[in-house]
Amino acid sequence: MLGQSCAQPLAQAHIPRVLSEAFDRLPNPFLFTALFGTMLQTIPVVNNKGGVAKTTTSINLSVGLARQGKRVLLIDLDSQGSASLALGIPRAKLNPSTADVLFGDASLNRSIRDLSIPNLDLLTGSLRLSNADTRLGSTEHREQHLKRIVDEVNDRYDVVIVDCAPSTSLLTINALVAADGFIIPVSPSYLSLEGVISLGEVVHNVRQNMGEAAPVLGVLMTRVPKHDEDAEAVIEQVRKHYGGKVFDTVIHKDPALESAPGHGESIYAYAPDSQGAAEYEALTREVSDRLERYGEVYRTIQKNEKRRSAHASNS
Ligand SMILES: Nc1ncnc2c1ncn2[C@@H]1O[C@H](COP(=O)(O)OP(=O)(O)OP(=O)(O)O)[C@@H](O)[C@H]1O
Ligand SMILES: [Mg+2]
Repeated sequence: MLGQSCAQPLAQAHIPRVLSEAFDRLPNPFLFTALFGTMLQTIPVVNNKGGVAKTTTSINLSVGLARQGKRVLLIDLDSQGSASLALGIPRAKLNPSTADVLFGDASLNRSIRDLSIPNLDLLTGSLRLSNADTRLGSTEHREQHLKRIVDEVNDRYDVVIVDCAPSTSLLTINALVAADGFIIPVSPSYLSLEGVISLGEVVHNVRQNMGEAAPVLGVLMTRVPKHDEDAEAVIEQVRKHYGGKVFDTVIHKDPALESAPGHGESIYAYAPDSQGAAEYEALTREVSDRLERYGEVYRTIQKNEKRRSAHASNS
């Protein structure tokens, strides 16, 4: 399917249209920051399409940011618990998980795991998350439970990364509502890009219903085959239309990235000299730069606000 979907005519004719449909509905990050004055901090990694490296990116970005000295909480919001398992938590020890905190069955402090990786904590995912629609569906402010958790840990972490499931369930909506900006991993296939369309729809609905929706922090091309003309054509088209939103860093296919989770390790611990480690390190730098840039915009707005109110009270 992937081979077919990357065929040249499709890449050139359909993919730009597909992406415009999705992204035309998303706000400009700077405008968003200026309007809402939000300090960027909570970053879900999201795409409806399965297997596009959401979990791989969540883990290696979280560990990368922690290695830079940022205090990071990784929230596993997938009932598969893949991010937790890949970081070495045994299946039998996945509970208490994010589900228990969301449902009010366990305290946040009891549920947060202190990993052996400095600066990185984890809220695990578990099968209990598959009850989210039933347990949260009829509650008041059902889209805001994750935001409540994130607000509670606000001064303990610099960044919260959320590994989302491949769906547009209530949990993903919770992630979008809690988000300050989100990352969309996309592999160069037509179906992966179609996933971005339905994500655009969901973001649009969240904005209409809740009056808010976070901007795209960046689109990340993942699992890119090396020396593959079709994949390169797709990436070129994506960059041509959405240059600024697409990260410069491209994550190529690397067997080490596939093997690392089986060893319960990040790519930096499992294969520090691999191409995957170098590419995720480069992505981490880009994400930090973007967060810093948005932070500067935020601080400028705050300074201007202070000046304005001082001026108003003096006159
Ligand atoms: N750059 C890469 N090179 C090789 N294998 C990769 C790469 N990125 C991810 N993988 C592998 O591809 C598979 C899917 O990746 P991952 O689990 O991160 O995707 P996902 O989007 O989280 O999937 P799901 O939608 O099921 O949650 C995994 O086996 C992972 O190890
Ligand atoms: Mg996953």
